[in-house]
Amino acid sequence: MGTGVVKDCRAARSVRPIRKEWGNSITYKNSTAAKKVMNGDNNEMKAVVIDGFGGPEVLTVRNVSVPDVGPEQILIKVDSAGVGVWDIGERQGMIAQMFGIREPIFPWVIGSEGAGTIVAAGENVSGFQVGDLVYGHVWAKNPKAGFYAEYTPVDADHAWAIPSTLTTEKAGALLIDGATALRGLDDTLGLEQDEKLMVFGASGGVGHFAIQLAKILGAQVFAIASGEDGVALCQELGADAAVDGHGGDMAAAARDFAPDGFDAALLTAGGKVADRALASMREGGRVAFPWHPQQRPDPKVPANVRTQAFDANIDQALITKLNNLIEAGPFDVHLGNTFSLDQVGDAHQALSSHYLGRLALLPGL
Ligand SMILES: NC(=O)c1ccc[n+]([C@@H]2O[C@H](COP(=O)([O-])OP(=O)(O)OC[C@H]3O[C@@H](n4cnc5c(N)ncnc54)[C@H](OP(=O)(O)O)[C@@H]3O)[C@@H](O)[C@H]2O)c1
Repeated sequence: MGTGVVKDCRAARSVRPIRKEWGNSITYKNSTAAKKVMNGDNNEMKAVVIDGFGGPEVLTVRNVSVPDVGPEQILIKVDSAGVGVWDIGERQGMIAQMFGIREPIFPWVIGSEGAGTIVAAGENVSGFQVGDLVYGHVWAKNPKAGFYAEYTPVDADHAWAIPSTLTTEKAGALLIDGATALRGLDDTLGLEQDEKLMVFGASGGVGHFAIQLAKILGAQVFAIASGEDGVALCQELGADAAVDGHGGDMAAAARDFAPDGFDAALLTAGGKVADRALASMREGGRVAFPWHPQQRPDPKVPANVRTQAFDANIDQALITKLNNLIEAGPFDVHLGNTFSLDQVGDAHQALSSHYLGRLALLPGL
């Protein structure tokens, strides 16, 4: 029993809940390790699994065992799982490759981020209690547990309390893109109050978070969004100006907003239109873009403009700051569409089409 986890139902039923003295919540512990919380009378759950890497056809919805919970882990009953462009990389095997997994163990549960309720905690976990609402992430491990499921174990230091202003459903699609937006604005661009910021791809995942965080940080935000619906969303979320990057007059709008050029820009998409937008940077301006697994060409910036790729690099300090900014608000997670586990194929197809904000799978649907 590697982690000392109870492996069968009878044993799990014998686990005694221990009432903790600081509250009325219950943590499942015994002298050996954390236990599974049973799903009814069996230890199975519904999950999206793959039995090999590939296209959307490898996504299978079926019952698998509720994963074991290690001593440093919590078990989350998943309410919401973010569906992001990186999930395509996971499905295709690119993420496993990035993490150096040479012999992946299947079935492999997809999904890197999500939110829900803690239903069990490992014996070495402190700071969380059963019943807490959390959001968190799992990276590729072998075997892989993931958020496209009714339950997932998560390392306790990869989970955080959900900001009080957000529902669990919305928080499931926050972590990776929220962290990326803040890492880009704060550490990479060093955004300062009253600076003029351009967000390119502003109605997408990272972009719509970036608009709101930049406003909370005191910047003046110019959003280049996708479509008229994207423009409307960015305005609703507080952008000072917004233009459609697929058909609007970007150059004129940028000139009006920042006659002396932009101080900083965050790009969440690339290509010729993005390169054209960057002509509006001021001399000495800063440009940042999140590193993308498909490694599209770096943006073309004018002379004397600094450009830098970055990763989210999720850590405690970053998410603590993210949560504080969200609590300060206003801040919303816009869910462009939600899907049941059975609709996972549609969700992955949707990633390649036009949508606003984030997509999420809701295992309870
Ligand atoms: N390295 C890391 O740690 C990290 C973490 C998270 C994300 N990322 C990367 O960051 C990038 C953004 O992620 P995301 O989740 O925000 O993806 P996303 O939701 O697809 O956002 C990109 C947005 O750009 C828009 N767009 C494309 N061309 C446009 C144009 N000409 N004008 C206006 N908008 C345009 C897209 O809309 P349409 O499709 O409708 O045009 C989409 O809304 C991805 O490349 C992702 O791989 C990296």
